[in-house]
Amino acid sequence: MAKEINTIGVLTSGGDAPGMNAAIRAVVREAIVKGKKIKGIKRGYAGLLQEEIIDMQAKDVSDTIQKGGTILQTARCMEFTTPEGQQKGADICRKHGIDGIIVIGGDGSFRGAQKLAALGINTIGLPGTIDLDIACTEYTIGFDTAVNTAMEAIDKVRDTSTSHERCSIIEVMGRGAGYIALWCGIANGAEDILLPEKYDYDEQKLVNHIIESRKRGKKHFIIVNAEGIGHSASMAKRIEAATGVETRATILGHMQRGGSPTCKDRVYASTMGALAVDLLCEGKTNRVVGYRHGDFVDFDIDEALSMTKEISEYQYQISKNFSI
Ligand code: ADP
Ligand code: F6P
Repeated sequence: MAKEINTIGVLTSGGDAPGMNAAIRAVVREAIVKGKKIKGIKRGYAGLLQEEIIDMQAKDVSDTIQKGGTILQTARCMEFTTPEGQQKGADICRKHGIDGIIVIGGDGSFRGAQKLAALGINTIGLPGTIDLDIACTEYTIGFDTAVNTAMEAIDKVRDTSTSHERCSIIEVMGRGAGYIALWCGIANGAEDILLPEKYDYDEQKLVNHIIESRKRGKKHFIIVNAEGIGHSASMAKRIEAATGVETRATILGHMQRGGSPTCKDRVYASTMGALAVDLLCEGKTNRVVGYRHGDFVDFDIDEALSMTKEISEYQYQISKNFSI
């Protein structure tokens, strides 16, 4: 017999992402409609261990769908990676009557959810990260907003780069994942993109590409560099010295994590939030919600965490073809 869920807890964990508030709002309101109590856990697993737990009503999420960040705050928590921390977390859930918990975050946060599930707290994960680096899903909450923010910023840098006939290295977020860089590379018509998954550290190739493109009369040379490769400022100095082309570095940084979510992030995050509640109501546990082939679906967390995902070779190749 599936465990009946009466009280649902919701938390955001790891890096924040635009659309997390839309997901929280959907969880709160869907839970209330389904006759469940709903509690917000502040500051991710750190707040769970500190018992920063609040009752939530429908009005508590009014005026939040359009806001960036997360109204529940987020944190990274070392203590929760230990068996003792996880047992303490499960005990605190029971103490507060929380029998089901929705964790909005990335793979690390899902590992935490997996541990809570093993300790008897029903858990559902929602993919929340600007990096798009969760293997089981083609969509993650926040990517669409972040990549649009980066794209608009790169358009602006490109204007001044063209005026001054410069090379511009623009560093976008993504320590281990090049999705933001790849998408911006295509969307901004970059001359080169450097992705952690593909980079061969052959700077001479880049230098030759800039010199050739200058000979062909290109006024600017935009390089979208992923954070995982980094070193944009020193790379700019080396490129300027080797090519004679004035070169500037711009690091977009955390601006990519903030801002009002796009329509897509609001709608998808809302749908996923509601689905997470519905899955808990069906007695499901140790699941993660994803988006695949045009549908919102759910996977076993263990299975989801064992999946791998590759940067599209085709998109990577065409991004290079377009830079002729
Ligand atoms: P993300 O969820 O974005 O991948 P992190 O990897 O920083 O971000 O993980 C967020 C939090 O999830 C961590 O600070 C920690 O509290 C928890 N977490 C990460 N890995 C584990 C693990 N193996 N077991 C339990 N909890 C974990
Ligand atoms: O996972 C989201 C992300 O913004 C990555 O792109 C980046 O590498 C990382 O988080 C930065 O984390 P923070 O600055 O919050 O430690």
